[in-house]
Amino acid sequence: MSFTHERIETSIPWLVVLVLLVVSVGGLVEILPLFFQQSTTHALPGMKPYTALQVEGRDIYIREGCVGCHSQMIRPFRAETERYGHFSVAAESAWDHPLLWGSKRTGPDLARVGQRYSDDWHRAHLNNPRDVVPESNMPAYAFLADARLDGHDTPAKLRALRTVGVPYVDADIAGAAAAVAGKTEQDALIAYLQGLGIALQGVN
Ligand code: HEC
Repeated sequence: MSFTHERIETSIPWLVVLVLLVVSVGGLVEILPLFFQQSTTHALPGMKPYTALQVEGRDIYIREGCVGCHSQMIRPFRAETERYGHFSVAAESAWDHPLLWGSKRTGPDLARVGQRYSDDWHRAHLNNPRDVVPESNMPAYAFLADARLDGHDTPAKLRALRTVGVPYVDADIAGAAAAVAGKTEQDALIAYLQGLGIALQGVN
């Protein structure tokens, strides 16, 4: 049997097998290097891991489903970079577990929202978005201002992140519970939001 073009194209089983083979090799060649490249796996120089309070804030962001309306990935298109700032680079997310890039933008991208507003603005906005942006259809999250963190699980969260490569030192973990105990969930969420995109600030 010879592998002529005609034979392959007229035999469904051979076509399926060979297409799968070609696609898998192509996929491996494109995807595998990303796991090992410096630019995708190493954090930016000077980048700091999230503080204990920011880690709690990020978990609240996940719990409340903010990612369902907000992406955190600025694409390299002019319309996006003019609105949001420098496009996102992989190294910025090297320590993000899980990634929160998202794909839905009912609200704006938040990748570089850090320091764009004051803490007070975020408080007002989270309590009732309509107070600061009258046309907003974002839900209110006022209850976050009443929920207090006890820090019980925070050291374990930092330890888990350390096992997947986030460079926390023992002192970060030892101080984690005290750093969040008594703070509100709103404090934590705002600390997280204010840190978004800081690593690349000044590049654009
Ligand atoms: C149902 C969709 C929806 C959800 C869920 C949602 N948002 Fe929003 N968000 C919006 C919309 C729409 C806007 C734009 C209007 C405004 O500023 O309120 C916005 C704006 C924002 C802004 C201001 C961004 C800027 O550049 O001006 C921040 C910060 C924000 N949201 C944070 C959050 C956080 C944190 C959560 C989760 C607790 C959340 N959002 C959940 C829809 C949503």
